[in-house]
Amino acid sequence: MRKKILITGGAGFIGMHLARRLADEHDVTVVDDFSRGRHDTELDALRSKVTVFTHDLTLPLPADLPRDFDEVYHLAAVVGVVYSNEEPQRVLRTNLLSTIHVLDWFKELDGATLCFASSSEAYAGSVTAGVAPVPTPEDVQLVVSAPTVARSSYGFSKIAGELLCRNYAQAYGFPLRMVRFHNVYGPRMGYEHVIPQFIERLLGGADPFQIHGADQFRAFCYVEDAVEAIAALTALPTKETLLVNVGNDREEIRIDDLARVVFDVVGRHPELDVHPAPPLSPERRVPDISLLRSLAGYEPRTALREGVRRTYEWYAAAREQRA
Ligand SMILES: NC(=O)c1ccc[n+]([C@@H]2O[C@H](COP(=O)([O-])OP(=O)(O)OC[C@H]3O[C@@H](n4cnc5c(N)ncnc54)[C@H](O)[C@@H]3O)[C@@H](O)[C@H]2O)c1
Repeated sequence: MRKKILITGGAGFIGMHLARRLADEHDVTVVDDFSRGRHDTELDALRSKVTVFTHDLTLPLPADLPRDFDEVYHLAAVVGVVYSNEEPQRVLRTNLLSTIHVLDWFKELDGATLCFASSSEAYAGSVTAGVAPVPTPEDVQLVVSAPTVARSSYGFSKIAGELLCRNYAQAYGFPLRMVRFHNVYGPRMGYEHVIPQFIERLLGGADPFQIHGADQFRAFCYVEDAVEAIAALTALPTKETLLVNVGNDREEIRIDDLARVVFDVVGRHPELDVHPAPPLSPERRVPDISLLRSLAGYEPRTALREGVRRTYEWYAAAREQRA
């Protein structure tokens, strides 16, 4: 069945990959304020198939936005450790107001399913407080372990977003998916994240090569796998609220080993210069994805080395275009 699908934050990283994945089979509309998402050749290539609304979701949704959507993916947010550290008030304001405005608009739709992008950061404080195991399932207590630290703003905005969505879904009776993304990476993800930063610094000739938190562990999920997972979850016929981890539990890696994978892919091998991890950065983060496997028959397909290679090719080409 051809569906009508809205993606907020659809000019961003995961949003644009999702729009591209869905646009051949469905009618896709994107809402984005382009604060981080970009007008580029990749978005241009989609324009014949995708309708784009430029709109700031800290304001109510545009009056001329259609109301006959079957699925709405709410991905718009201020994302990343850099912004949570430097502008925690903007992270909170944008992520909370945009979610409230999407919900106030969504509750009037007829029969649509909402998919809300949450994050592993929602339970980061629970791991720190010792009340959640690693690999972490969905049903752990949520704890804001350091509310006075700016970085907590992002995780708190995702906890509040989950509570908002859950309670609106209960009050207005709509089907809801809440997906906790875990370290999604790939082409076009912006420059504030670990894999693009490693690539950029290598291409810039950094030697020695600084790494913070070299002994920490993360499990990286290639963006196309993440997009398959959320499309499959949202299309499920159940009317229930589902809270589901999305990630790749087969690719857990120490951060200095990740650096070595990137070095191999880029073909440069500088000296490592190891520094402590920044405050509140979790020592180990790995999702338990049993629920995703059982609900969606999901299995991550892209091996880390292959995903890093594709990501490198994109960043190397973008760097040449900038030069
Ligand atoms: N990438 C990951 O590993 C990861 C991990 C956990 C959670 N998430 C969540 O997934 C979603 C997508 O993340 P991403 O990595 O694609 O980030 P992104 O920054 O690339 O995309 C977010 C998009 O939202 C848009 N946006 C920001 N403020 C807006 C506003 N006021 N109005 C309209 N649009 C606005 C930005 O311009 C951007 O295009 C986010 O909600 C994020 O919190 C991502």
